[in-house]
Amino acid sequence: MGQSITFKKADHLKEKPGSAKLGFGKLFTDYMFEMDYSTEKGWHDARIVPYGPIKLDPAATIFHYGQEVFEGLKAYRTEDKRVLLFRPDKNMARMNQSCDRLNIPKIDEKFVIKAIKKLVAIEEAWIPSEPGQSLYIRPFIIGTDAALGVHPSATYKLLIILSPVGAYFGNSMSPVKIYVEDEFVRAVKGGVGYAKTAGNYAASLKAQTKSEELGFDQVLWLDGVEHKYIEEVGSMNIFFKIDDEVWTPALNGSILPGVTRASVIELLKKWGIKVKEKKVSVNKLFKKAEKQKLKEVFGTGTAAVISPVGFLKWEDHVIKVANGKTGKLSQKLYDTITGIQSGKIEDKLGWTQEV
Ligand code: COI
Repeated sequence: MGQSITFKKADHLKEKPGSAKLGFGKLFTDYMFEMDYSTEKGWHDARIVPYGPIKLDPAATIFHYGQEVFEGLKAYRTEDKRVLLFRPDKNMARMNQSCDRLNIPKIDEKFVIKAIKKLVAIEEAWIPSEPGQSLYIRPFIIGTDAALGVHPSATYKLLIILSPVGAYFGNSMSPVKIYVEDEFVRAVKGGVGYAKTAGNYAASLKAQTKSEELGFDQVLWLDGVEHKYIEEVGSMNIFFKIDDEVWTPALNGSILPGVTRASVIELLKKWGIKVKEKKVSVNKLFKKAEKQKLKEVFGTGTAAVISPVGFLKWEDHVIKVANGKTGKLSQKLYDTITGIQSGKIEDKLGWTQEV
């Protein structure tokens, strides 16, 4: 796939949002990347074109059987006017793992990183520069065959769209409230839980609505077999500080292997903090909390960054974590990760790539 990327200029450019409060994923830039796959040609016709609707056959596989994978990463503007991506190689490796599970042809990871860099460079003026803001990058692949038989598509489209974003939750470091879902499950081992694919999120929506109706921000999922072990939160992985250790659910086939999750584990270990990737029983966690051993809870994700959890509910049990405030470790992780991403802290780990 040593192919070139063509560029079609837009007739009109949209007005940029300036330093407004951006929210998450509501505005889109002027251009998008598009590339097609067919059995004969492989991935071909890489192009950057004006952002806009795409034409698909109503029988396309994506609409009926959800053959799709996606990724989420961000571009950050530094004070010295560089543009950085955070570990795009990890996102592309995960995209290929998801492709493998969804029976989608693999991508050339290096080529797609090149495409992301080219698209972001064209759209540089859209990268917001207020603290906590960035340009969210959403690559995704859909099956496009017009066929209703349940088979993998023979044709696909890879698209990359960009959205200037602020915090995923209203205010980046205000602790969120989460609710342990005990009726619905997100995924089971052997299913697609570890893949970043639309169906996992579709399966989460009913519970997400329920949690919002009950006054919570997101759902904390339990395992799909025993309903005993903590898995992840709606849009993030989850960590618990228990006295001086940090626990996070071990990757088990039904949990998304987050890039921020992996980065947090590396940082904590570097700081000499003991991290246990283990099965975390919800019962045991609430017992630890009763004994005042649960010191902090935080979620991690590209969209969520580090998101402190101030309030946890499971059945009739309610925990106010760290007095509903942001804990010291959550704050230090947030400052370090966003510091590396925005170039304020020297990237000694080689996590960033310049556009
Ligand atoms: C991300 O953190 O990039 C995600 O994909 C979460 C998302 C579903 C909002």
